[in-house]
Amino acid sequence: MAAGADGACAVMVLLVIGSMAAGGDATAGFIKSPLSQRRLTQDSVELHCEAVGNPIPEIQWWFEGNEPNETSAQLWDGAWQDRVQINATYNLHSTSTIIIANLTSEDSGTYECRASNDPDRNHLSKSPKVKWIRSQANVLVIERPVITGQYISSAGKVILSCNMSAPPTPIKGHKWMLGDKTLKTEESNSNSYISYTIEGKVEDHSGVYECIYETNPVAKGNVSIEVPPQVVAYKKSEHGNEGDTGVMICKSPSYPPVDTWTWFKSDQGVSPIVNGTGRYIIKSSGNKTELRILKLSIEQDTGDYHCNGTNLKGPGSATVNLRVRSRLAALWPFLGIVAEVLVLVTIIFIYEKRRKPDEVLDGKRRLRKSNATNHKDKNVRQRNAN
Ligand SMILES: *[C@@H]1O[C@H](CO)[C@@H](O)[C@H](O)[C@H]1NC(C)=O
Ligand SMILES: *[C@@H]1O[C@H](CO)[C@@H](O)[C@H](O)[C@H]1NC(C)=O
Ligand SMILES: *[C@@H]1O[C@H](CO)[C@@H](O)[C@H](O)[C@H]1NC(C)=O
Ligand SMILES: *[C@@H]1O[C@H](CO)[C@@H](O)[C@H](O)[C@H]1NC(C)=O
Ligand SMILES: *[C@@H]1O[C@H](CO)[C@@H](O)[C@H](O)[C@H]1NC(C)=O
Ligand SMILES: *[C@@H]1O[C@H](CO)[C@@H](O)[C@H](O)[C@H]1NC(C)=O
Ligand SMILES: *[C@@H]1O[C@H](CO)[C@@H](O)[C@H](O)[C@H]1NC(C)=O
Ligand SMILES: *[C@@H]1O[C@H](CO)[C@@H](O)[C@H](O)[C@H]1NC(C)=O
Repeated sequence: MAAGADGACAVMVLLVIGSMAAGGDATAGFIKSPLSQRRLTQDSVELHCEAVGNPIPEIQWWFEGNEPNETSAQLWDGAWQDRVQINATYNLHSTSTIIIANLTSEDSGTYECRASNDPDRNHLSKSPKVKWIRSQANVLVIERPVITGQYISSAGKVILSCNMSAPPTPIKGHKWMLGDKTLKTEESNSNSYISYTIEGKVEDHSGVYECIYETNPVAKGNVSIEVPPQVVAYKKSEHGNEGDTGVMICKSPSYPPVDTWTWFKSDQGVSPIVNGTGRYIIKSSGNKTELRILKLSIEQDTGDYHCNGTNLKGPGSATVNLRVRSRLAALWPFLGIVAEVLVLVTIIFIYEKRRKPDEVLDGKRRLRKSNATNHKDKNVRQRNAN
């Protein structure tokens, strides 16, 4: 339906713009009108209006409150202590969006979009030939209900609950969310007290959980589970080659995020590793820290490193064991083979030197079976005798 309406609007814009291009003046006409809305106090509301005409029409916004003594007043960008913002474009046709932030119940009333391209439209004494055209929307601002959220944890379970006082309209259901993930949806549950159970330890389930009531408008509360950082090392032990760069990483999946990360080397006591000193580089963000050590040295860098993260709830830490191997370490197997070959060659050489007199007799066979035993030699001699 909405797509169809948009399509119709687009066709209309093209028709009107086409007729304007053809030459003739065209009085202003709306192609999009603001829609009535319901909102809670402290929310914001956005109304949108578009008009066509030749010349391109001017758009104004006017407000009339619900009090009987109120008269309508024009709204401008920055009105109402800067709570009103108006974004307008005048490019082929006119568009205007009014945004009212931090609503109060006094903002309830009629909002009017007015458009005109009459040259005399803002003239004080001349009455314009064509009046402003108008399009209205009602905004109803309802007192935000109080939603209290809390949690209890016991026996390997965490139970979150929300309780809403004075629902603005009947509750048609609710859902629980964590970030943009929906955890649970319950339609046709009209309770104002709702709960959600998580299996596991509270430390593993920190975060800001949202409880969302299907009222009109929807009302949201939250349950915030805050724990000290549950720091884990990306790898409990790291290996590096002498002269290479060593990298150690710690993470905290917890809420709230870590404010400060510090790295310690266990044999350097309580003085933390300072970023940029020596061969150390530390990179930290809210949930991850990385310690890089340039040009690893076996004597100086081998050992245990602690990463400590601290948030509002306290500290947490993990340990990474760094092992630095000699550059030669990677060569050991190769060197072993080389040594073995050398030993063999030496043995063969010595053996051959000792056997020199026999060589004249049966040179080829001796070379191939250089380790042949005396016993075999006897057989050969026997065969020769035969
Ligand atoms: C309208 O009346 C209310 C009291 O009913 C008063 O507070 C307000 O100032 C009045 N507004 C105008 C524009 O006279
Ligand atoms: C209105 O314009 C401002 C900048 O001029 C922009 O930051 C803001 O996002 C716009 N708002 C809307 C609803 O388009
Ligand atoms: C919203 O309005 C209330 C009073 O109406 C005020 O106390 C509060 O500071 C405002 N909040 C913002 C973000 O402007
Ligand atoms: C929910 O809040 C209301 C008051 O707003 C209170 O009377 C009621 O006992 C609360 N329900 C629970 C289960 O805490
Ligand atoms: C959670 O709710 C409190 C008030 O109930 C609000 O101040 C806070 O901004 C909310 N936090 C989030 C992340 O929505
Ligand atoms: C860590 O924070 C980044 C953004 O700051 C986010 O994209 C990522 O998902 C977070 N990781 C965890 C495990 O919370
Ligand atoms: C450490 O210093 C480097 C540059 O020397 C910088 O990019 C990085 O953000 C610093 N890290 C911290 C945790 O301050
Ligand atoms: C860092 O963590 C280690 C290991 O848990 C702890 O012994 C040390 O006291 C912590 N240091 C700081 C400054 O928090």
